[in-house]
Amino acid sequence: MGFLPFFSVETWILLITFICLFVMYGKWSHGVFEKMGIPGPKPLMYLGSVCQHNKVYYLDDNECAKKYGRVWGTYELRCPLLAVMDPEMLKVILVKECFTYFINRRNLKLNAALNDALVFSEDDHWRRVRNLLTPSFTSGRLKEMFSIMKHHSRKMTDCLQSKVDNNEVISIQDFFGPYSLDVMTSCVLSVDIDSLNNPNCSMMKHVKNIFKISMPVFLFQGCFPFFVPVLEMIGVSLFCKESIAFFKMIVKKIRAERNGSSHQTSRDILQQMITSQTMKGSKNLAGLNDHEITSQVTMFAFAGFETTANTLYFLAYLLARNPEVMTRLQKEIDSTFPNKGSVDYEALMQMEYLDAVVSECLRLYPPIARLDRKAKETVMIKGITIPKDMGVMVPVYALHRDPELWPEPEEFRPDRFSKENKQNIHPYAYLPFGTGPRNCLGMRFGLVIVKLALAEVLQNYSFSVCEETEIPLQMNPESFVGPLRPIKLKMLARSTT
Ligand code: HEM
Repeated sequence: MGFLPFFSVETWILLITFICLFVMYGKWSHGVFEKMGIPGPKPLMYLGSVCQHNKVYYLDDNECAKKYGRVWGTYELRCPLLAVMDPEMLKVILVKECFTYFINRRNLKLNAALNDALVFSEDDHWRRVRNLLTPSFTSGRLKEMFSIMKHHSRKMTDCLQSKVDNNEVISIQDFFGPYSLDVMTSCVLSVDIDSLNNPNCSMMKHVKNIFKISMPVFLFQGCFPFFVPVLEMIGVSLFCKESIAFFKMIVKKIRAERNGSSHQTSRDILQQMITSQTMKGSKNLAGLNDHEITSQVTMFAFAGFETTANTLYFLAYLLARNPEVMTRLQKEIDSTFPNKGSVDYEALMQMEYLDAVVSECLRLYPPIARLDRKAKETVMIKGITIPKDMGVMVPVYALHRDPELWPEPEEFRPDRFSKENKQNIHPYAYLPFGTGPRNCLGMRFGLVIVKLALAEVLQNYSFSVCEETEIPLQMNPESFVGPLRPIKLKMLARSTT
């Protein structure tokens, strides 16, 4: 045994056993899709099979779709995920069997204080919270919030003037980002943080940080999920606890100020939730408790900000690169609101070409690249048996670029969504807001925010590419579909009449 220096035989046996167990454990769950006869990239020990073709996960989905078709199996570290972009299967998963088998999303658990936010809520808790929040997003409520949105879009349009006058290159994020955040905080909390003029304000910092996933925690929970209850107990979180605490403090402060003051008559979303506390309803509709209210506010600020802001960045970029589309859109805007007239809600929402342009932008750049659900029970769909607890992932970004559903998918062609062409789109081929009972709660709200800003800006200016514009754009590998670097454009003033 001279060739085994330093350690005793027992130590060597233990060491080798440990290495074997470590290797076996790292591959344990990686045979699931092979057994199911589902194709997919070959997983690596512990790491699984995500991002093997591209480090940007949604571009990787696109590559997988080209290689494996509309259903494939992938492993997020050790966790098997069934990727589905077959429209018929999507109908069953997202709509027909949503309540029976697919009501919940995958839940990685370490959501810190946000466990009761709607996005993470499950079963009856989700039903109750969704029912309570839905009335805040009716078209009546949106009309009421429209004047607040207009205040912010006007301010942003005015701010652009000096940049345009000096012929400066504009980082489009510096305008549309604060606009989206200011609208969200005003509509949700009645607080005007004016992030347009205070770009380094705490709210901006925290809203950008809050859902930046901690990579070490993500890797650890993915590789050793049995430690999750312990991690939960000691307060480990995937999300930024400092930012969650910031929102908690803000809501507490606002509520304290409102107590006994005239603000109790505020028409903002926070006040609607507070009012729900005193509602006398059935058990299922018991109003939101204080903790739940704070979680929803935090979630709205984030869910509303990143999605609408990223949509506006891509719209500016696409229009700058497609001036003929921009000119046609400006004509529609000018004829709907002649002489740069005030934009009104009803007319804005009825503009057909504007809707087509925004829809086509959301097809090419859906801010949320994947939907996900978890099977509640074992279920067979189109001959595939999905086992209980398996995660089902809908690669929306890849679905929107499927060449059989979208001819020449990389082309920006708003006419795909014209009145005549729209009816030919398969209902499960276009899912920027998801679909079914668990679709986006803020869909109409998000669309108003985006359309209003675009219409007001294009009434006054045109976007134009310049030397500093990155073409093609490099994409951000982090959670939302967004550009890696700020989008730089020039803006030209339109004639004053
Ligand atoms: C362009 C803007 C937006 C896009 C593209 C978008 C997209 C999405 C998507 C894809 C989902 C998942 C749907 C599913 O799983 O089927 C979602 C969920 C959600 N969104 Fe949005 N969203 C936008 C704006 C907003 C806004 C402004 C709010 C609210 C202030 C909001 C609140 C939510 C909430 C609460 C959920 C979870 C719904 C649930 O679990 O029941 N979103 N959104």
